[in-house]
Amino acid sequence: MSTTFQLDTATSRSHPTPQPMRRLTVPAIRKRKVDGVTAEPIVMLTAYTARQAQLLDAHCDLLLVGDSLGQVIYGLESSVPVTLEMMIAHGAAVVRGSYHAVVAVDMPFGTYEASPQAAFASASRVLKETGCAAIKLEGGEAMAETVAFLVARGIPVMGHVGLTPQAVNVLGGYNARGRSEAEAGKIVTDAKALADAGAFAIVIEGVVEPIAIEVTRAVACPTIGIGASAQCDGQVLVTEDMLGMFERVPRFVKRYEEIAEVIGKAAERYAGEVRSRAFPGIEQTYQPK
Ligand code: KIV
Repeated sequence: MSTTFQLDTATSRSHPTPQPMRRLTVPAIRKRKVDGVTAEPIVMLTAYTARQAQLLDAHCDLLLVGDSLGQVIYGLESSVPVTLEMMIAHGAAVVRGSYHAVVAVDMPFGTYEASPQAAFASASRVLKETGCAAIKLEGGEAMAETVAFLVARGIPVMGHVGLTPQAVNVLGGYNARGRSEAEAGKIVTDAKALADAGAFAIVIEGVVEPIAIEVTRAVACPTIGIGASAQCDGQVLVTEDMLGMFERVPRFVKRYEEIAEVIGKAAERYAGEVRSRAFPGIEQTYQPK
């Protein structure tokens, strides 16, 4: 496969390669699950910047501009304060940095819950101003009418059930959901309502594994698990978590790298060379001809 970007040698900036392959579509993602079976699991990672998108794009079916950027990029305590403007700015960057994956952008808290009309106003801005192909929103049965309203008006919707971080103030924390029978039943009902309303995929986050399996069997559209089950139709992780950018991550995160350590060591070497005047060297300075 060719590279995901081209380097402009005049400016040292990289640009996505225009046409090495066609971008995947929402219907193509939805069609991965046929009669309850997904032969090729769906790969999704979060992305917040153009360069990150360039690096992840070729490996992913979906890039999610998650409102987790509140904590990961902006150092906020939760995703609750994230604004539509933040999501639009990062969504547009990720679309610019990708050409292959479907880009889905999270609707931030407070921009879609009040009514289907409010959700349409916010979601249509996201699609118009970022160029993304889909939005994601949290909530189950209560959001089903909104999902149907958006889908009928041309906005593909990914659902999100189980642990829904925007509801942290109601849930009281980020613990796994579905431990009681009532809670488990509600998660299944929520997912079915979203699927019936036309969601093309549903994220299942932080639930006990049998519930993730039950939901995956119960809905026709693909499920994408995070802290859920390998039997989901796909998986998602926050990229910075799986890269090892943070000391503490939820137990469901597998760290594929230890990037924080790499960055720390590079900064330490740089600082040492600045202080000893070893940097910049002859290679990094301009000399008269
Ligand atoms: O905001 C986010 O990154 C998400 C994923 C963790 C699914 O919703």
